[in-house]
Amino acid sequence: NVLVLHTVAEVRTWRQTQQEQNKSVGYVATMGALHAGHLNLVDAAAEQCDSVIVSIFVNPAQFAPHEDLDRYPRTLPDDISKLAAATLPPGTTRTVFAPSVAEMYPRGITTDRAQQRGTFVEVLGLSEMLEGGTRPHFFRGVATVVAKLFHIIMPDHAFFGQKDVQQCCVLRAMVQDLHFPLKLHVVPTVRDPEDGLALSSRNVYLSPEQRLRAPSFYRGLCRARDLFDDGIVSRENLIAAVEEEAAAGALDIEYISLSNPEDLSELESVGSSGAVLSGAWRMGTTRLIDNILLGFN
Ligand code: PAJ
Repeated sequence: NVLVLHTVAEVRTWRQTQQEQNKSVGYVATMGALHAGHLNLVDAAAEQCDSVIVSIFVNPAQFAPHEDLDRYPRTLPDDISKLAAATLPPGTTRTVFAPSVAEMYPRGITTDRAQQRGTFVEVLGLSEMLEGGTRPHFFRGVATVVAKLFHIIMPDHAFFGQKDVQQCCVLRAMVQDLHFPLKLHVVPTVRDPEDGLALSSRNVYLSPEQRLRAPSFYRGLCRARDLFDDGIVSRENLIAAVEEEAAAGALDIEYISLSNPEDLSELESVGSSGAVLSGAWRMGTTRLIDNILLGFN
């Protein structure tokens, strides 16, 4: 029940058919190694749309030369089985687009920025801070591949996870700036029901010992939320709560941020427009991120 496409030409033909059948198209972009977080996006897409398409593509442009492009999990047959097994409203059309690197980057692609050729998309003003601070190549790679995928798939609705909050901000700006005729939806983070760790394809890298310590960051976010619910709004207090739990888990923190949800600028306190409390930490060679929203949903 899952149609698997590999080329741009195949997707264009498929898209034409959806149009002719008057089916609305919902799109979920992924790098594969699908888990319940991805499948939650598929559920959201199926709720809104007649036809759901999931792209599975490990995008070299969003990795730096020293990052985990080579070891990133690639599990296409399993991913297709998971999509086939998902419970969706009856009649929902399921499609996977799994292109090769050459199909997506006809001019070639390298993680070495100095060697790159061709067309790229940069969303200035939202890409440099937070995740962009230590990963300066990252959002250029994400915006470029998602712009290509939007052009190929031409979805009516596209669904992204709150877990990657800055990615949502960058892509929302790109959709507006480049006039993509689609509606972007942000779907809540799916967590391990036992300990709250945000599901991530990179969790498979963790040793059992690291996996036990990893949820301490989310515990810190929850403590900060409790403080916020008790009326505490200052940056110092909210970030200290996360730092304390993270220290209890011996996490190697890269950053903790309290930022404005609109422009991601750092805040001294949570005001009327709310805040994003977010951060990144390292466990051995693995880098993980998480966030919660304060003062809005
Ligand atoms: P990937 O990490 O595979 O994530 C694909 C989508 O799933 C993203 O929108 C991400 O935010 C969402 N997601 C991941 N974990 C989630 C969780 N625990 N709960 C809810 N949503 C979750 O993000 C990317 O791939 C890439 O950057 C991509 C957008 C595909 C461009 O290459």
